[in-house]
Amino acid sequence: MSNPSLLILPGDGIGPEVMVQVRRIIDWYGDKRSLAFDVSEDLVGGAAYDKHGTPLHDDTMARAQAVDAVLLGSVGGPQYDDVDFALKPERGLLRLRKEMDLFANLRPAQCFDALADFSSLKRDVVAGLDIMIVRELTSGIYFGEPRGIFEEDGQRVGINTQRYTENEIDRVARSAFELARKRGNKVCSMEKANVMESGILWREVVQRVHDTDYPDVELTHMYADAGAMQLCRNPKQFDVIVTDNLFGDLLSDAAAMLTGSLGMLPSASLGAPMANGRPKALYEPVHGSAPDIAGQGKANPIACILSFAMALRYSFDQGDEAARLEAAVEKVLADGLRTADLLGEENVTPVSTSQMGDAILAALDSSL
Ligand code: NAD
Ligand code: IPM
Ligand code: MN
Repeated sequence: MSNPSLLILPGDGIGPEVMVQVRRIIDWYGDKRSLAFDVSEDLVGGAAYDKHGTPLHDDTMARAQAVDAVLLGSVGGPQYDDVDFALKPERGLLRLRKEMDLFANLRPAQCFDALADFSSLKRDVVAGLDIMIVRELTSGIYFGEPRGIFEEDGQRVGINTQRYTENEIDRVARSAFELARKRGNKVCSMEKANVMESGILWREVVQRVHDTDYPDVELTHMYADAGAMQLCRNPKQFDVIVTDNLFGDLLSDAAAMLTGSLGMLPSASLGAPMANGRPKALYEPVHGSAPDIAGQGKANPIACILSFAMALRYSFDQGDEAARLEAAVEKVLADGLRTADLLGEENVTPVSTSQMGDAILAALDSSL
């Protein structure tokens, strides 16, 4: 049988820097665990725009559709501020999500014990935190029509449309309930049914899916603004949170800071199962291209490394190997290694991106 295929799209800014460390880990699995991947690499975002004049070449799109999983670094940067909106780096990522129909974006926020003091919240509020945000990723205000900037009564008006069909809500709700059954068996759905019709429909459909097929899972509903407040007040009350595209974007960045740094949060964007039974999948850190630190060897590679761990779990049926990698990350953090984003008031010298990679590889070696 041929090896599973993996398309790597490092992208822009710190994307290529953190991806170098992930490549070393992928190679380690081939050498030490006989878990070899057919890895290919391509351009996305500003890097693709610079070469092809488009943030995602059609050939790259076709390759992404054909592989078992895609691993993406990050896209964007200030050098593309003046680029035409349709050609901005971010459009390449949005096209991948939309055309691969990756409707369920899993964004786990776990607080490793060694980092509980780095959160902006008190240790006892975040220690042991383990929540999963399921963000709808292919619809809502990111994609709804009409959209654009139009002339109206002698002035310009900017329009975006929040739009959800019942089916779109139904399928992401199912993803959330399925995940909850494997975790704490609780789902909290967040919308703004008090002010938005799409929120009313969201709440109704999530409740219906629950009552029909998942009555064993505990379901609660919360307005998204109150949800943001509760995430800061008492985040450990949550297990799985299911929410729309825009609220999920905001809530997951907020949840990132509970864990200590945006540089820690991985994600999996999953679609429907392919012919081989695996979901269409793209794995990417939650963070962006971090232009302020790009090119300085300071980036924390852990979010991207943990995104590969999610690929091992969700695309390649290697839950044990995913757990091995997560444990290696936990070990280096417990040993006191910190990239610059994780430095609090403590008097610790930060390690570089590649030193963090070295340490995680050493921890993997010692796990054998
Ligand atoms: P960002 O996530 O790039 O950076 C926010 C802050 O977090 C910065 O101070 C940055 O240095 C820090 N940070 C982020 N990741 C880090 C890491 N791994 N290690 C250490 N520090 C890290 O968000 P931004 O500044 O709002 O956006 C910059 C660009 O990235 C924009 O063009 C934006 O559109 C793009 N972006 C892309 C993605 C993606 O590719 N998935 C996600 C978010 C933002
Ligand atoms: C994210 C990012 C993206 C989003 C951008 C870069 C398109 O912020 O993945 O969280 O808004 O979804
Ligand atoms: Mn975001």
